Amino acid sequence: MHDTTNDLLHKPVMVEEVLDYLNPQTGQVILDCTVGGGGHASKILDKIKPNGLLIGIDKDLEILQLAKQNLSKTGRSFRLFHADYSDFSEVLSQAEINMVNGILLDLGSSSMQFDQADRGFSFAKEGPLDMRMDRSHGITAKDLIHRLSEQKLEELFSKYGEERWSRRIARAILKEENDTGITSTKQLANIIERVVPRGKSKIHPATRVFQALRIAVNKELESLEAFLNKIHNYMTLGARIVVISFHSLEDRIVKNKFSERARQNIFQILTKKPITPSEHEIERNIRSRSAKLRAAERV
Ligand SMILES: C[S@@+](CC[C@H](N)C(=O)[O-])C[C@H]1O[C@@H](n2cnc3c(N)ncnc32)[C@H](O)[C@@H]1O
Repeated sequence: MHDTTNDLLHKPVMVEEVLDYLNPQTGQVILDCTVGGGGHASKILDKIKPNGLLIGIDKDLEILQLAKQNLSKTGRSFRLFHADYSDFSEVLSQAEINMVNGILLDLGSSSMQFDQADRGFSFAKEGPLDMRMDRSHGITAKDLIHRLSEQKLEELFSKYGEERWSRRIARAILKEENDTGITSTKQLANIIERVVPRGKSKIHPATRVFQALRIAVNKELESLEAFLNKIHNYMTLGARIVVISFHSLEDRIVKNKFSERARQNIFQILTKKPITPSEHEIERNIRSRSAKLRAAERV
């Protein structure tokens, strides 16, 4: 692969820990719901060889093409699907699979999405306010800003971004939207920088608003809830599910759903507390710093 593509490649998070908890074995069927560039998937394929099958899902078609290139090099058996993972049952029926032995969800976005300015995920790069993981349909971040009232925007920043200055930010955004229109990432980031008081925090003042818009545009929490509501019906006894989340809203949903299933004697929780990356990993890959891994087994 060309060097520049390698530079853009997403570094998979907590690979050892994922393999430990997922415990993939030779001949098994594993569902990677967020296959991305195939970082975790290639390691899983090594464990399930020679006759196991990896089913990979991603809603980002461009990233899925990269996964195809990368996984083809392993020479192992995989099938890739362009879908939202909440539609996993349709994917499984297309693949003619009833039950799986392991499931991985590595939530959020890929650094490949962040690094491409034209995707509009990053406040540090000038680009259109898009933020859709699946560019084949759906509304963009720009559409959301254009359509929502000040109150709805405020609620969105507060709920999905846990942003304490949501009211001020919503007001300033709508003022500029009405005056000149807001079309770019940098334009939005500049508005936020102007109205949020400078505290001691090291994170950029636009971080939380960008997170909130991304969650809303991609309906991230809805997909996760819908998926966790039904996945246990497709897991063989002893099948493992591993979820890596990157913010407290996701982690709370995973924690609550695992506890509910444990009370129903459907899951045994394998991680009483979430597993976090080592300091060494955080040094190597700053994006891993907010990762939390939870795992459970179908009983
Ligand atoms: C953190 S990356 C996964 C990286 C991957 N584990 C690897 O090692 O390369 C998350 C991926 O999930 C995809 N994604 C996020 N939400 C999704 C959803 N609801 N359905 C399908 N794919 C989704 C994103 O497009 C992104 O490629």
